[in-house]
Amino acid sequence: MQAMSGTYNDKVVKQFAIATVLWGIVGMLVGVIIATQLYWPHLFEGIPWLNYGRLRPLHTNAVIFAFGGSALFATSLYVVQRTSHVRLLSDKLAAFVFWGWQLIIVAAAITLPLGFTQGKEYAELEWPIDIAIAVVWVAYAVLFFGTIAKRKVSHIYVANWFYGSFIIAVALLHIVNNISMPAGALKSYSAYSGAVDAMVQWWYGHNAVGFFLTAGFLGMMYYFVPKQAGRPIYSYRLSIIHFWALIAVYMWAGPHHLLYTALPDWAQSLGMVFSLILLAPSWGGAINGIMTLSGVWHKLRTDPILKFLVVSLSFYMMSTFEGPMMSIKTVNSLSHYTDWTVGHVHAGALGWVAMISIGSIYALMPRMLGLKEMWSTKLIDTHFWIHTIGVVFYIASMWIAGVMQGLMWRATNDDGTLTYTFVESLNATYPYYLARLMGGLMVLSGMFLMAWNVYKTYTVAQTTGDLPVLAPDPSQARA
Ligand code: HEM
Ligand code: HEM
Repeated sequence: MQAMSGTYNDKVVKQFAIATVLWGIVGMLVGVIIATQLYWPHLFEGIPWLNYGRLRPLHTNAVIFAFGGSALFATSLYVVQRTSHVRLLSDKLAAFVFWGWQLIIVAAAITLPLGFTQGKEYAELEWPIDIAIAVVWVAYAVLFFGTIAKRKVSHIYVANWFYGSFIIAVALLHIVNNISMPAGALKSYSAYSGAVDAMVQWWYGHNAVGFFLTAGFLGMMYYFVPKQAGRPIYSYRLSIIHFWALIAVYMWAGPHHLLYTALPDWAQSLGMVFSLILLAPSWGGAINGIMTLSGVWHKLRTDPILKFLVVSLSFYMMSTFEGPMMSIKTVNSLSHYTDWTVGHVHAGALGWVAMISIGSIYALMPRMLGLKEMWSTKLIDTHFWIHTIGVVFYIASMWIAGVMQGLMWRATNDDGTLTYTFVESLNATYPYYLARLMGGLMVLSGMFLMAWNVYKTYTVAQTTGDLPVLAPDPSQARA
């Protein structure tokens, strides 16, 4: 393609790409620490800011919002420029979004270990940080949609639809779930109470999965899978159906987190039914991504980046099959409270979210630096295997542990007494906690390999300046 006047703003993309790797290491390191604490509960005993209850939300916030968030910022800002054939709306706004988000992460990393929390899962941060998140998010929305508004092609590529819905939905979820009454500099009370509070929280929690951990990453899939495979997306029509079906269904499935609670029974059943329906758009989208490889399957033999992307889709299919099954009330009565849920979470988080992010960062990094490939393709391949095997260790151990716990807790003797005490189920779980720890260590070591590869790629890069904007295909030129 021909160059046009102007350049892309790659500075912010590079910053967020590097932040992805660094926060990935930090967040997963904290994951490994809490996995160790579950195996050796005495680790850090007596140090309040390192206890499990404080480090766990630090882990979830770091991996979801710092690691996953940075990957979403990096790729969305890269993709929106490449598919709109223009530079970002404003360099200053881009810098504000990057530094604002980093400041929020640092604020979270300080306040969570100190014990400041709203007590809402995935929405732990206290009100001043919540306000900062809302401000940075609005700036991000202006930057993203403003860039789309000045695009040089009439068409809005489907990846941007997914990124756009993620940006709008997250703003809505964040603001509604965090409405609260401040009662001090770092203390507040939720505007909701009782079952309503729980419902709002899990409407937020589930859609955080649907939009933060899924829709944005599907944006990555729609851009980087075709790019890396060198093929157009399998079906553009399917991608549009996929988009509308997914965003229409996700919003209703939240009550599956509150089965057998004080929530009205009809709401629980509604959540279950919508969760079952969600299987269809989830698989439709994943199949669209995987089938993009038709005719070029052989590339999987030599391209580890493509392996990351395609295997991430397999894990996506696995977790979006498992999720609807776990939403069935009778299945949930076994799985809830057990490590099965944790296994499901990490099939999605480590298999889908982390692998598509890692693959996409490996794909955009050399392109952005004017190189053909990363410093070492061999190292990417090693990373792929160590990550994949690590994830399998993690999720398989949690599945076995979870089902075992569920069965032990419900087992009764003929006289109606419980067959096992809770401690017996805990003792039976220890070997699986060790296996999970091994898996986590493998995944973490893979991230160190990635950091080394990224560093070396930078050292061999000829250009670290901005690249020229490429002209759109003439057949798509804006009238
Ligand atoms: C080295 C990699 C990782 C390790 C060792 C790890 C370990 C852990 C551990 C031990 C827990 C607590 C489980 C419990 O309370 O029983 C946890 C929870 C969680 N982790 Fe990770 N994790 C890793 C990576 C990730 C990533 C990359 C993500 C997201 C992108 C993630 C998302 C979560 C979430 C959402 C929870 C809460 C699950 C729930 O409440 O059911 N983790 N993790
Ligand atoms: C069709 C799609 C999906 C459905 C219907 C679904 C359903 C479920 C169900 C039923 C639970 C257990 C609730 C409980 O017993 O407490 C759950 C937990 C969870 N799922 Fe999914 N899931 C889906 C996909 C995913 C994906 C792709 C991810 C990650 C990227 C994910 C992340 C989570 C997390 C983080 C939790 C734990 C929430 C918590 O208790 O802290 N889910 N999901």
